Amino acid sequence: MAIIELVGVHYTYEDGTTALRGVDLKVERKEKLALIGPNGSGKTTLLLHFNGILKPTHGRVLLEGREIKYSRRELKELRRTVGVVFQDPDTQLFAATVYQDVSFGPLNLDLPEDEVRKRVEEALRLTGALPFQDRSPQYLSYGQKKRVAIAGILAMEPQVVVCDEPTAWLDRDGCQQVMELLDRAAAAGVTVVISTHDVDLAYAWADRVVVMKDGTVIAQGDPVEIFMQDDLLRQAGLHRPWVLDMWLTLRKKGLVDRSATVPRTGEELKACLES
Ligand SMILES: Nc1ncnc2c1ncn2[C@@H]1O[C@H](COP(=O)(O)OP(=O)(O)OP(=O)(O)O)[C@@H](O)[C@H]1O
Ligand SMILES: [Mg+2]
Repeated sequence: MAIIELVGVHYTYEDGTTALRGVDLKVERKEKLALIGPNGSGKTTLLLHFNGILKPTHGRVLLEGREIKYSRRELKELRRTVGVVFQDPDTQLFAATVYQDVSFGPLNLDLPEDEVRKRVEEALRLTGALPFQDRSPQYLSYGQKKRVAIAGILAMEPQVVVCDEPTAWLDRDGCQQVMELLDRAAAAGVTVVISTHDVDLAYAWADRVVVMKDGTVIAQGDPVEIFMQDDLLRQAGLHRPWVLDMWLTLRKKGLVDRSATVPRTGEELKACLES
C-alpha cells in the first residue's frame, strides 16, 4: 500500500490562484521520488499537502490508506510520519542556536530527554552541523542553514522526508553532500521525495519521476522512460539529461552497445565507452 496517496487534489490559494487541478499521486514506501516541472507548475503546493501544511480545496490525502480528516491528533501523526524541508531554510529556522532548532521537533514529539539528546546529536553529526551547533542559525551560510533544516527533520525520524529543491543555490560540493545525506536516509529505509529543476539530478537519482505542468501530473514513471520522450520534454519545457542525450547520440552513431543498460550517470556513460 502507498505510504501517501493523493486523490483528485485541487488547491486554490486565498487570492483565487488555482495551483493544483486534480492531482492523483501515490508515493510508495521506500522509493526515491523526484518531482519535476516548470516554475509555477505546483510542485511546492503539492509537497505542502504531504504533511498537512495545506489542506486540499477538493480531494483527499491518505496516509497508509487512511484518509486524513485534519484533526489535531491526525495532523500530529501525519507530521510525525512525514517531514518537509522547505526550499528556503530561513522559513524553517527560528531558534537562538542550531542545537535548539534541531531539538524543537523531537521535543514536540514528547520523547524522553535522553532520546531527544541522542537524536539531535545524531542528526547534527550526520549533516555535518556539529561544528556550528552553538551558533545562531541566522548568521550561517546558506548551505549551512540547509543542513540544519535537514537535521531538524531527520531528528524527528520520519518515515518520509520531503525536500523542496534540496540543491537550489548550493555549490557543487554542497549539492553532493545534501544528496548523499538524503541517500543515506533512503538506504536506512526512509522514503525520500524531492522537487527539483535539475533534470540531471532527477535522472541520476530517482527511482521514479513525476512531471508536473499547470497544476496537474502530466507523466510519471521510470527516469529513462520519462526522459526518452521528446514530446513530453517539449511540453513540460524540460531538457533531456546530458548523460542520456550523449548516450543517444553515441548510439545513433553505433558507438555504444544498443542492448546495454542505459547509463544514468557520467561514470556509467564512461563505462559504456570503455567496454
Ligand atoms: N501563497 C500563495 N498565494 C497565492 N498564490 C500562490 C501562493 N504560492 C504559490 N502560488 C501560486 O500557485 C502556483 C503554483 O506555485 P508553486 O509554488 O506550487 O509552483 P512550483 O512548481 O513550486 O514553482 P517553482 O518551480 O517556482 O518553485 C503558481 O501560480 C503560484 O503563483
Ligand atoms: Mg517551488
